Amino acid sequence: MCGIIGYIGARQATPLLIGGLRKLEYRGYDSAGVSVLDPALGGPSRVVRCRGKLGNLEEKLKAEPAHGTVGIGHTRWATHGRPSDENSHPHKVGPISVIHNGIIENHLQLRQELVASGSHFSSETDTEIFAHLVERQIVDGAENLTVAVRKALAKVRGSYAFVVMSDKEPGTLVAAKNSSPLVIGLGEGENFIASDVTAILAETRKVIFIEEGEMVTVTKDKVEITDLEGKPKQREPKIITWSATQAEKGGFKHYMLKEIHEQPRAVADTLVGRVDLENDDVNLDGVNLDVKNIKRIVFIACGTSYHASMVGEFLVEALARIPVEVDLASEFRYRDPIVGPGDLVVAVSQSGETLDTMEAIREAKKKGAQVFAISNVIEASIPRLADHAFYTHAGPEIGVASTKAFTTQLVAMTLLAIHLGRRTGALSRERARVLLNELVQLPNKMKEVTDQGAHLQVLARRYGGAHGFLFLGRGSQYPIALEGALKLKEISYIHAEGYAAGEMKHGPIALIDDQLPVVVLVPTGPSYEKTVSNLAEVRARQGKVLAVATRGDHDIGGHSDDVVLVPETALELQPILTVLPLQMLSYYVADQRGTDVDQPRNLAKSVTVE
Ligand code: F6R
Repeated sequence: MCGIIGYIGARQATPLLIGGLRKLEYRGYDSAGVSVLDPALGGPSRVVRCRGKLGNLEEKLKAEPAHGTVGIGHTRWATHGRPSDENSHPHKVGPISVIHNGIIENHLQLRQELVASGSHFSSETDTEIFAHLVERQIVDGAENLTVAVRKALAKVRGSYAFVVMSDKEPGTLVAAKNSSPLVIGLGEGENFIASDVTAILAETRKVIFIEEGEMVTVTKDKVEITDLEGKPKQREPKIITWSATQAEKGGFKHYMLKEIHEQPRAVADTLVGRVDLENDDVNLDGVNLDVKNIKRIVFIACGTSYHASMVGEFLVEALARIPVEVDLASEFRYRDPIVGPGDLVVAVSQSGETLDTMEAIREAKKKGAQVFAISNVIEASIPRLADHAFYTHAGPEIGVASTKAFTTQLVAMTLLAIHLGRRTGALSRERARVLLNELVQLPNKMKEVTDQGAHLQVLARRYGGAHGFLFLGRGSQYPIALEGALKLKEISYIHAEGYAAGEMKHGPIALIDDQLPVVVLVPTGPSYEKTVSNLAEVRARQGKVLAVATRGDHDIGGHSDDVVLVPETALELQPILTVLPLQMLSYYVADQRGTDVDQPRNLAKSVTVE
């Protein structure tokens, strides 16, 4: 989730690159840089890059101006390697400058091979590997930059949008795309490349979207698209009619809706490089936990991350058979918790900055526990404070109500539980294989759910006028019921409660009448029949039931007023699918009520007060 921009034409590139990067800054980046060259002078490009906001780069450029009419620019959201000057893009090796969005999956192996054959690395990034690979192709006699990039791409696995520039071929930019957006902006005697149409809208509205597995060679007058074998492709340009603000939201009305739809991609990014299908195992980015000596796991988190942790409890106990406790970080240190050596404290936070969670970590460390952080923000305070860090790679989340950060936390929990289970011996290799294969299929299944927007909009109209909602679920669906209620409360301001379905008869059943919509999470599984009984209890009291069930369940329609179906998956992964319709329901209810969906009243994205 970085921002990419390239320019080739007759104007000075640097101001155009900075202008484009400024438009991409809304995503919240941690470093930025440009590489600019002047074809008239030949000579090497000037790379200027630094950690921090774009303003830092602009200051640096005042002292080290970069002149020329060809250039590439980048804002980074760190994935491999902390935010630092050295890890900022562009990366330059010999004559080759590279910017990259995405993750190179086989980076460890490629780096080892390159180091073994004499390459020297100056950063911790996966991107620098690609600069070395292209440079090698040039040294080995590739006839031009396009061929060198094509040959280098053949060695790379993963998701990417690359833009490559060469001092030796100053009139050309070469770009390639696989699972990361890339768009070409067409001008008169000039062309642009960007990761996001927002970056170039001020300059041109005539664009060509590059598709999966395509490369493009761009000069100031020409755009040549090919597949990765070099076979030419034809594509008509499109004229963009979106406003700049609409474009930032990818054409969606709100960031939250965009982020809901980004979830399949975000989950795929969380899985990259971690799923080891050859050994039916999970690689935790090289983190070596002393699993045999972990006596207990204690999750600490707040809000949505707390709900993810409750699912984590279910997963770790089921798959690794290690006892688990889940604690609200805001409560943890005030009750003199019994925690110490032998405990692995897993601190979960999308922002990585929540003060309650930080204080809980300090308490746990003081008492001798090991801390493993799950964060979406690289090098945020929480992962820095922890002994080990694992990043969810969901990309920046702008909507205050967390969606993609939550589902990627659930994926992180699943990966952790499989990793632990394989080492405690509680999880058989066969079951691990099934789960890992299901995980890999999850993004497509998630998309099948997020594609049901029209249906959820109808349901939001049907139920959105209610004064309150109840959400029910059992097992790992109970935290999802809590999360559904929280999402609705946060953005629509309708009171909602989440309950374990079996608890309904112990109190909340008194609330049920024909005015109370009850959302029941009832996917197939061991709790199915019991949950259907709870659902019948609601209906017997004229409550309105909206069931979230598994596709192929032909009975559920007879027990409920409305149904949303999600694809079948392993029991352990069901929460990642069932939460999606709840996020969408909340979104559409809030939107119909006209609330400020992305910045709901009284809430902040990062809670840095106790
Ligand atoms: C709700 C939400 C919050 C956060 C909570 C903890 O949509 O996002 O409940 O989960 O404030 O924040 P993090 O996860 O950043 O520690």
